[in-house]
Amino acid sequence: MKGLILSGGKGTRLYPLTYTSAKQLIPVANKPVLFRVIEAIRDAGISDIGIVVGDTAEEIKRAVGPGKQWNINITYIPQEAPLGLAHAVKISQEFLGDDHFVMFLGDNVIQGGISPLIAQFASSSYNSQIVLTQVDHPQQYGVAQLDDSGQIIKLVEKPKEPPSNLALVGIYMFDAHIFEAVNAIKPSWRGELEITDAIQWLVDRSYNVHAYVHRGWWIDTGKPTDMLEANSLVLEELTPTIEGYVDRDSEVDSRVTVEQGAEIINSVVRGPAIIGKETRLVNAYVGPFTSIYHHCLVENAEISRSIVLEHSQIRNINRRIEDSLIGRHVVVHRSPIRPRAYKFTLGDHSQLGLLGDEGS
Ligand code: TTP
Repeated sequence: MKGLILSGGKGTRLYPLTYTSAKQLIPVANKPVLFRVIEAIRDAGISDIGIVVGDTAEEIKRAVGPGKQWNINITYIPQEAPLGLAHAVKISQEFLGDDHFVMFLGDNVIQGGISPLIAQFASSSYNSQIVLTQVDHPQQYGVAQLDDSGQIIKLVEKPKEPPSNLALVGIYMFDAHIFEAVNAIKPSWRGELEITDAIQWLVDRSYNVHAYVHRGWWIDTGKPTDMLEANSLVLEELTPTIEGYVDRDSEVDSRVTVEQGAEIINSVVRGPAIIGKETRLVNAYVGPFTSIYHHCLVENAEISRSIVLEHSQIRNINRRIEDSLIGRHVVVHRSPIRPRAYKFTLGDHSQLGLLGDEGS
C-alpha cells in the first residue's frame, strides 16, 4: 500500500501565518502537523509516500526532505493550483499505479493513528473506505447519509440541510478504481474536482465503499481556533519529559515537557504545556494548553492556551495573553518610550484584540 498526503492549497483561513508559508508546517505541540501525518502513515507500515505540493512546495521540501528521518521514501507531486482533492488524486496516478493507497489531508490531526483502519482495509475486498465522525455543525463538512445497515447512500459537500451529523474525516482509502471516478467527474460550482463527487460516483456504480465511524477526536486545522483545539488535545496525550533546565525558583507541573536547551527561570509552567528547544522563560507564567516553539523568550509575561512559533519574544506585558496564535519572529512588548501609545507592525490579515478602557 502507498500513502498520499495533500499538502498543496492556500490556507487562506490561517492568514497571515500562512501568507507565505505552508499551513501544514504549523506545529501542534511543537511538531508540524504534516510530520504527525507522515508518522501516522509510517506507523501503519507504509513506507512509500507521495506528497502533493503547491505554492509552498519549496518550504515543504526543505522541512521534510526525502523521508530519511522516518525511514521512508517521499515523492513530491506538484499541483499547479488547488483544483480539488480529487484533482490531487488524478495527478498522482503515475505515482500510485495499481496500488491500494491511503489519502490523508496534510492539515488533519486524528486521535489514535490510522493503523487499525489500514489493517482493516488491507484485509478487505473494499474498493474504498471512508472515515466518518460525528460533528456538531455538519454544514461545514462533507457529510454522509447511511442506511440502517451502515451502507452509504449519499455524500454531500457542505450541505445547507445535512442528511446526518456524520462528517467525512480527511482520511480516505482507495483501490485503482478511484481513477475511473476522478477522470469521469466534472468540477463543482466552486471550480474544484470534489472527492465527495468521486466517491459518490463509486457508490452509484455499486463499488464496495465502506464507511468506518471514528470514535475519538479529529481536527481539521483550517482555522486558528482549530489549531488551538488540536494543540490542547495533542498536549493532553503527550508523555512529558524534562530535558532542559528548570531552576529552583520555578514551579513546573508534571504534565510539562521542557525540550533540550530550554531554560526556565523563576517561572511557573502549568501543564499540559511544552517549552521548545533553546527557549527561555524568565519571571513568566505559561500554560495550561500552551506550546512555545524553539528559540523564543517569554519574560515578565503570562500566556495560556496559546501557540507561539519559533524565534518570537513576549516581554513585559502586564495582562495575560490567552487563546492566541503568535507567528514566527514576532515581538510583543511594552514600549518604554513615551508617548504611551500603541505601536504596531502587523502583517496583512493580522488580528489584534485590545482591552477596552477599564470600567467603560
Ligand atoms: P482545504 O482546507 O480544503 O483548502 P486550503 O488549504 O486551500 O485552505 P483554505 O480553505 O484555508 O484556503 O485543504 C485541505 C488539505 O488538502 C490541505 O492540506 C491542502 C490540501 N489540498 C491540496 O493539496 N490540493 C487541493 O487542490 C486542495 C483543495 C487542498
